[in-house]
Amino acid sequence: MLPSKTPGKKEGFRIRFLPFDVTVEAPPDSTLLEAARAAGLPLNTACGGKGTCGKCLVQIMDGEYETRPSSSLPSRLLKEGYALSCLTRVKDHLTVGLPQFQEIIIRNVLSSRFLEEHKNTISGTFEIDPPIEKVEVDLPPPSLENNGSDLRRLERELRKKRPIRELDCEYSALRKLAHAVREKEGKTTAVLFRSGATWTVLDVEPAAPGKRICGLACDLGTTTVVLHLVDLESGEVLGTSSTLNPQVARGEDVISRIHYARKPGHLKELHDLIIGAVNHLIDKAVLASRVSAGDIYYASFSGNTTMAHLFLDLEPRFIREEPYVPTFNELPFFAARDLGLKTNPAARVHLAPAVGSYVGGDITAGLLFTPLYRDPEKISLFIDAGTNGELVVGNREWLMTCACSAGPAFEGSGTRCGMPAAEGAIEKISLEDSGRAVYQVIGNTRPKGLCGSGWVDLLAELFFHGYVDRQGKFNAPKAGERLLHDAEGPAFLIEEGKNTFWGKDLVITERDIANLIRTKAAIFSACLLLLKKAGLTFDKIDAFYVAGGFGQNLSIHNAILIGLLPDLERNKFSYLGNTSLLGAYLICLSDENRRLAIDIAEKMTYIELNTDSSYMNEYTGALFLPHTQIDLFPSVRQALHL
Ligand code: FES
Repeated sequence: MLPSKTPGKKEGFRIRFLPFDVTVEAPPDSTLLEAARAAGLPLNTACGGKGTCGKCLVQIMDGEYETRPSSSLPSRLLKEGYALSCLTRVKDHLTVGLPQFQEIIIRNVLSSRFLEEHKNTISGTFEIDPPIEKVEVDLPPPSLENNGSDLRRLERELRKKRPIRELDCEYSALRKLAHAVREKEGKTTAVLFRSGATWTVLDVEPAAPGKRICGLACDLGTTTVVLHLVDLESGEVLGTSSTLNPQVARGEDVISRIHYARKPGHLKELHDLIIGAVNHLIDKAVLASRVSAGDIYYASFSGNTTMAHLFLDLEPRFIREEPYVPTFNELPFFAARDLGLKTNPAARVHLAPAVGSYVGGDITAGLLFTPLYRDPEKISLFIDAGTNGELVVGNREWLMTCACSAGPAFEGSGTRCGMPAAEGAIEKISLEDSGRAVYQVIGNTRPKGLCGSGWVDLLAELFFHGYVDRQGKFNAPKAGERLLHDAEGPAFLIEEGKNTFWGKDLVITERDIANLIRTKAAIFSACLLLLKKAGLTFDKIDAFYVAGGFGQNLSIHNAILIGLLPDLERNKFSYLGNTSLLGAYLICLSDENRRLAIDIAEKMTYIELNTDSSYMNEYTGALFLPHTQIDLFPSVRQALHL
């Protein structure tokens, strides 16, 4: 409960923004938008604060405020405490939620059918052997005869239990040592970090055999950030939390963020935003699973090369400049306190190794969760269709990789009604003969927007039923009354505003379709070119693994229909969800997986598409539904009689 203000006094009010839990002081009668800006929060303000775009929406959970109605906000939502921050004046201490940063629904792939079938065939291992261990020792009491230092006596006992060649000790552990070894007559619990033959004492406590040692696995996605809290002894995922990456408001893709980071102070701002988001996710996961943040001793991160640089506050500009050299590909461990993470300050932080400027740790970690790197003969293709699309072809003997700028259209940004796979997202949709949409919404609420799998379905259905042509243009006579016209041009009505959560029509515009087609074209043409470079054709691919933030219900059939995925037998495809997160989880689970990711990174041959003139030709050819060369999609040609 926030303290109440002193009546009559013109002091500022405390405004607490959730889910980031950032509090700022705001002068009376200032707007919530000003307070959000002062807090460095990335609210979208497409209309520049005029109250017309409806993008700066907040939900006021506690406190008094004054707001004005707007045609962009239905009165039903006003009554529920929603308000446009640009039209809302501060009259009290407030607790304010930012609805756009709601929880993304994570498919529980760890208990999925894919895992049941592939647990023993994926490249990584599920055996639990993290580099963090808890060791119980019983120190003999010091005496005049046995008067070695506490640290020496601890070391002697630890050497009896582990093959320690060298032992280091964290300063924070050293400060606790004298009491820890005396409080329970020498019975002591030590938390150790192992790196080769060198071990480091991260923490000591008086005997605590039931003490939990935890790790976290985190996917630093360009658009979304997702975290698993993991019990390092059982491997159990204790909690999961996720959020939209707050850097989105400073640039939707890595290129625009690299550009943004060039201005003074902006790199630090991007760094602070991502650290703030990760700390917020740690808070949430810890709270939900009743674990102490101090018991988190290991943090395994994966992300593309730009995200890794921004996370570490490293200048990203050389990633973009020829010859495209990042500051690092592989890093040693370092301590969480260096980054200000809300774990145990001595926790060891690991980032999955990158291959190059545009193929990062999200891919090397992600491959651990596929069978691709296990088989010496079968050739597989792996595609992570995130904002940055990354592809790998090969097997245990050889690997080729490339990346393309796909854009965030399938991840919830860049389309008018797009959203991540969170509550309220349409994840499945089909069209009846009348054009009426039949859909399935995550959380069974009124629809708020469409996530990636919904967009794939919708575009495929519009194309299949003839509402759009091969160029992505609407067929106006066929669409009839469902085709609306507004400032952005023609738009196909998915659902009327009276039935949607935000009270606005859900539509797909021609501009959205162009965006979706550009995204699918970037991915498919990168696929085609990568295979050409490898001297292969699609029919030589034995298995096709698809990852990305589409949502749980990606229809492979529809993805082929729009030309996002190649026209192969459907049983060759597996949709794996967020493999970057799952790879980070595997690295958290076993140090063998960390070493395997390094092997994978070293084995990859990176193809730079930026400098390849044929990429643009392939891309242009793919800017049609499903493709200009319809022969590449025989099943679509047959189904549509093209
Ligand atoms: S900024 Fe557009 S409605 Fe507030």
